[in-house]
Parts: sequence; C-alpha cells; structure tokens
Amino acid sequence: MGLRAALSARLAHAAGRLMRGAVGDAVAAAMAERRSERDAAIVAQVRRGYGELSAQLDRELAELRSDIGEQVRAEADRAVAEIRAAELRGRRDLAAAGERDAAATSARFVHDEMADAVALPTPVATLEHALAIASKGGMALEFGVYTGRTLAMIAASRPDDAVYGFDSFAGLPETWRPGFPVGVFDDIAGPPEVSGAEIVVGLFDETLPGFLAAHPGPVDLLHIDSDLHSSAATVLAHVGPRLGPGSVVVFDEFFNYPGWEDHEARAWRDHVAAHPGLTFRYEAYTIDNEQVVVRITGEDRRPGAAR
Ligand SMILES: C[S@@+](CC[C@H](N)C(=O)[O-])C[C@H]1O[C@@H](n2cnc3c(N)ncnc32)[C@H](O)[C@@H]1O
Repeated sequence: MGLRAALSARLAHAAGRLMRGAVGDAVAAAMAERRSERDAAIVAQVRRGYGELSAQLDRELAELRSDIGEQVRAEADRAVAEIRAAELRGRRDLAAAGERDAAATSARFVHDEMADAVALPTPVATLEHALAIASKGGMALEFGVYTGRTLAMIAASRPDDAVYGFDSFAGLPETWRPGFPVGVFDDIAGPPEVSGAEIVVGLFDETLPGFLAAHPGPVDLLHIDSDLHSSAATVLAHVGPRLGPGSVVVFDEFFNYPGWEDHEARAWRDHVAAHPGLTFRYEAYTIDNEQVVVRITGEDRRPGAAR
C-alpha cells in the first residue's frame, strides 16, 4: 500500500470511531430519556391501580363488616330466643314436665327392679343384646312388623330357627298416646318381604289362636313392638304359656314416656301377677329410650307357687 492510501485508511478509521462515539452517546441519551419516561408512566399506572384496588378493598371490607354485624346480631337474637324458650319449657311446658316425670319414675323403676340390668345406648343395641342372650331352637315371634326393619334383624340373627312377624298392617287399632292416634302406621303398601321370616297378617287376637294351634313348641324370643296395652296383653295371654327358662321378651315401649305405667309395663305387671310361679330377670334397657329386655328364668306351675 502506498503512503497516501495508508494515510487515508487511518483517517477513515479515526473518523469512523469519532462518528460511532458521537452517535452512540446520542442514542444512549435518547434511550435513557425514553426509559425514564416509560418508568414514570409505569409508576403512574401502578399508583393508579393501587389506588383503585385499595378503594375497592375498603368498600368490600365495609360490606363485610356490616354483614358480620348483622349475622352476629341474628345469632345473638336466636340464642336469646332459645334460652327464653328453654326457660319457659323448664317452667311451664306440660309435655316437657310429663317427660321429666316419666324419666324420673322410669329411673326409679330401674333403681328398684333392674339394678343389675345392662344400660345400652340405642334401641338397636338393646334388641341385639336380647338376640344374643335368647335361647335357640324354638320360634321367634315379633308383634308389630310395620316396615319389617326389626323383623329383618331378628331373622338375620336366627338363620336356623323359625321366625314369624304379626301385624294387621292397618295401623294401631286404638289411640295410644299423644302423637299416636288410631290408624297410625297404616302408611305402607302391604306386608314387607323379610328374608328368613314369615308374616302373619291380621289382628293379633284373630290370628294368634290358629297360629299357635298349628305351630307347637317353645318361643325363644318374643318382640312386642305394638305400642298398645291391649295388644301386649293379648300377646302375653296367648304366647305366655310358650315361654320357658331362657326365653327372652323384648318390650319396645316399656317405659320412659308419660303414662308408661299404663301400657306395655301394665300388661307385663298383670301377666306376672297372674302367674305367681313365673320367675324372670330384667336383663337390659335403653338408657334414653323405651326398650326393656326380660329373660324368663323359670316357672313353677304348681298351684299357688310364689315368685
Ligand atoms: C311401631 S309399629 C312396629 C314397627 C316395626 N317393628 C318396624 O321395625 O318398623 C307398630 C305396629 O303394630 C301393629 N299393631 C298394633 N296392635 C296390633 C294388633 N292388635 N293387631 C295387629 N297389629 C297391631 C300396627 O299395625 C303397627 O304396624
């Protein structure tokens, strides 16, 4: 390369560096200006958003406060009304007073007559207990089948023995107590299908004589779930002679409701009084319900034999 060419190349190089430096500075300055404008815009936008959000939150918080206030007031009003109603019930409600009396007299009965009996938590537990202690090999009879719920329990626990359920399926033939008028429990289509059990349809006093004549032999389990004094009395009069040592009688409505002394309990009391040789033990009861389980321990059938 000649001297001129070399000089001109160096000049061009120097000019290029100068140009790049100037343009670079200008571009950097412009970019810095743009960035700070954009940053300012972003900051302004964030501030606006934050302001809107915080106003919205304030509104929602105010609504929530007033809702919670109303709910707390409503809950407090409800609690006060409940306490007033409970106080009134405790002081003046005759049904509640009757139930308290019934619980007290039933507790007295437990204390006097059933001190060794097992207290069970539910009617189902009480029936299960009765099924576990009843002797086997004889018949199981239920009076009051209705839906078949308890008959199904009995049949399931006695697969090798005959199980029968009796009911008219026309509901109670008499009024029992408040809430249980004549005809109550007539609301099912007909006898239920219960596997392992046969159903005998009709009023007990009409079906029992023929049934017992056709089915000799002992009764191991007698479940009386027909509510009425008259029904329990009919059943005990007919089936009583088939009960022997080891037989178990379950009363589904023995005690713990107003007037209990006049219903199944009376039928049992009269039955016992009419059979002075009959010996038995109260085995179990439901702690907050009406069921009582009795096990027959023996019957001295000699005339005049005493318990
Ligand atoms: C409380 S329900 C029985 C409930 C049943 N154990 C269940 O698990 O669904 C009482 C039943 O006893 C029956 N009943 C009461 N006395 C009767 C009588 N003398 N003759 C026939 N059925 C009677 C009624 O028809 C009614 O269906």
